Amino acid sequence: MEIPFKQALIFGKIRHRKNSVKVTRMNIRTMTSKDKSAIMRLLQNTPEFTPAEVVLADEVIDEYLFNPSESGYFILVAVIDSKIVGYICYGPTPITEGTWDVYWIAVDHEIQGKGIGRELMTAAEEKIQRAKGRLIVIETSSKAGYEKTNLFYQRMGYKEACRIKEFYAIGDDKIVYEKRFQGSDR
Ligand SMILES: CC(C)(COP(=O)(O)OP(=O)(O)OC[C@H]1O[C@@H](n2cnc3c(N)ncnc32)[C@H](O)[C@@H]1OP(=O)(O)O)[C@@H](O)C(=O)NCCC(=O)NCCS
Repeated sequence: MEIPFKQALIFGKIRHRKNSVKVTRMNIRTMTSKDKSAIMRLLQNTPEFTPAEVVLADEVIDEYLFNPSESGYFILVAVIDSKIVGYICYGPTPITEGTWDVYWIAVDHEIQGKGIGRELMTAAEEKIQRAKGRLIVIETSSKAGYEKTNLFYQRMGYKEACRIKEFYAIGDDKIVYEKRFQGSDR
């Protein structure tokens, strides 16, 4: 069954290209310990992430699960038909007022480009704004293979704030993106 593009957005359906959608139920919810193995599989199957990055993501997830409210991290998962298809990890930047970091976002590589990343990022941004966040910062890499990641952030309204040449390695800059919320009273 196909429904029109605009209607699809209202109902939060998964989008196909060519302005149509397949009707699929997606739910975005807080991560629980039962989701961990699925998230780890997703991270391990994401070619952009090095083994060291997967280890770091694993440690952050464990810290979050040990004490979700005190860890300084928030993790949301996207679920379709009980299957974890994406996740986002974010949190308030320590010793700032109203600045938040998005640390990780990943979508199952088999269903990227269908709007799941946008839904995850939007859900996190809404929660950050409700917590009186006024600025979101994201750090990423300029290396080959990260082109679509950079395009994704730009399409989500993030502006390049600065770039540190050869930060990660020779030929691999750190790009820092920012998004500021209008109307923030902070
Ligand atoms: C980056 C990532 C999370 C995006 O998720 P996604 O579900 O594929 O993205 P969406 O389908 O929601 O796309 C959102 C927007 O980004 C744009 N975008 C996404 N992939 C793109 C690509 N390959 N080329 C150009 N634009 C792209 C889309 O055009 C879309 O814009 P629109 O809604 O205005 O049309 C996903 O590709 C991913 O997991 N990548 C690997 C992991 C990674 O790099 N994570 C970030 C570093 S921590």
